[in-house]
Amino acid sequence: MSLKSFNHFETLCTKPIKEVRNTANHQLGINPSSAFRFDNTADSIKAFLSQPGSHVYSRYGNPTVDPVGQRIADLEVSGSKTKAYGVLTSSGMAAIHICLQSLLLPGDTVITQEILYGGTSELLNKVFVPQKIKVLNLNFSNLISLEKSLLKLKGNKVIYLETPVNPNLACVDIKAVSKIAKKFKVLVIVDNTFCTAYIQKPLLLGADIVLHSTTKFLHGHGVSMGGAIVTKDKLLMHDKIWPFLKLIGSTSNAFDAWLIHLGLKTLHIRMQRHCDNAMALANYLDQHENVQKVNYPGLDNHKDHNIAKNQMNGFGALLSFEVKGSIQNAKRVMDGLSLAAIAPSLGETDTMVLHPASSSHLRVDKKLREQHGISDTLIRVSVGIENIEDIINDFNIALDFKIRAK
Ligand SMILES: Cc1ncc(COP(=O)(O)O)c(C=O)c1O
Repeated sequence: MSLKSFNHFETLCTKPIKEVRNTANHQLGINPSSAFRFDNTADSIKAFLSQPGSHVYSRYGNPTVDPVGQRIADLEVSGSKTKAYGVLTSSGMAAIHICLQSLLLPGDTVITQEILYGGTSELLNKVFVPQKIKVLNLNFSNLISLEKSLLKLKGNKVIYLETPVNPNLACVDIKAVSKIAKKFKVLVIVDNTFCTAYIQKPLLLGADIVLHSTTKFLHGHGVSMGGAIVTKDKLLMHDKIWPFLKLIGSTSNAFDAWLIHLGLKTLHIRMQRHCDNAMALANYLDQHENVQKVNYPGLDNHKDHNIAKNQMNGFGALLSFEVKGSIQNAKRVMDGLSLAAIAPSLGETDTMVLHPASSSHLRVDKKLREQHGISDTLIRVSVGIENIEDIINDFNIALDFKIRAK
């Protein structure tokens, strides 16, 4: 019997098929292998010693996942000489968790806004506060109070911000905050999910780390969950972020990474159309007699319009508006829409609406959310890339009713 053939039925069923490759893929392939094999022990040792980078096991790194994380990093610094390093995670929440967990120890402080994506606030309060990591909520438009807090606070600190903020679309001046942070050697982390690098590049404005929920615009088609962490600091990525990602195991997978990469191919075209449509819808809503207020950084009357103009290339797809009258009127508008979907996500090709007070910000104290403009009549819109006349017509029909005096 030949020892080398190993061709018994059971063995042939079981043993991995070696890929036959005589030309290279033109497009990124999907490589879902959990483990990677070595020709000999010396190669295995070499691969384990050169982590991250060489492929040994997919929780450590994967040939489909790694280049997509790196492409997102390249986009964040495109047009500059700056280098950035990126990894994909299993969700946007995983990106936020891994990033903060790798930087903070008991006694440290996260300085952040009062209003953030609801999941981020919950993560800070339910996961980090019990670890004795403090959360300090500040208004980042008050730079003097930021500087005073940085002077006063002991221990390691990071600044965590979202701009524009979900869902009131307030904007934070990334350059100004980063300048102060640098003075105190404090890292600035920006959740850039709403903008993507097409609209805003926080790393080039002075921030140290950018996070994404790739579930939103980067993938853009609503059939993949994912996140990304990008930093300019190679050591920070290699010695802190990547080891935590590997150990906690919230890594992405080949199929999601491949879906994200498909989304990236049309990112620039989609984002431009999202911006154009959102601007047109914001202008339309701003003139409507049944609308109390529109929050869109592209409108001259938005309180942070100048900040947005200085740091954004376009004003994004997200807007929110308050319907006049009671919560019943807001519900009536939501239910009256037929093209826009009521769905708790954003950044997909179609228009989506959400009622923050009863969904994403349900667990935020009513007084606090109202202070930040998240009233019972506020509706958030993720404006899609459909024909703009159809989008406006949909809202026109939904808003077509007489508001009764209270
Ligand atoms: C601004 C922002 N950051 C992070 C997340 C979390 O992302 P994921 O749902 O992919 O975990 C979301 C989700 O809506 C978000 O809107």
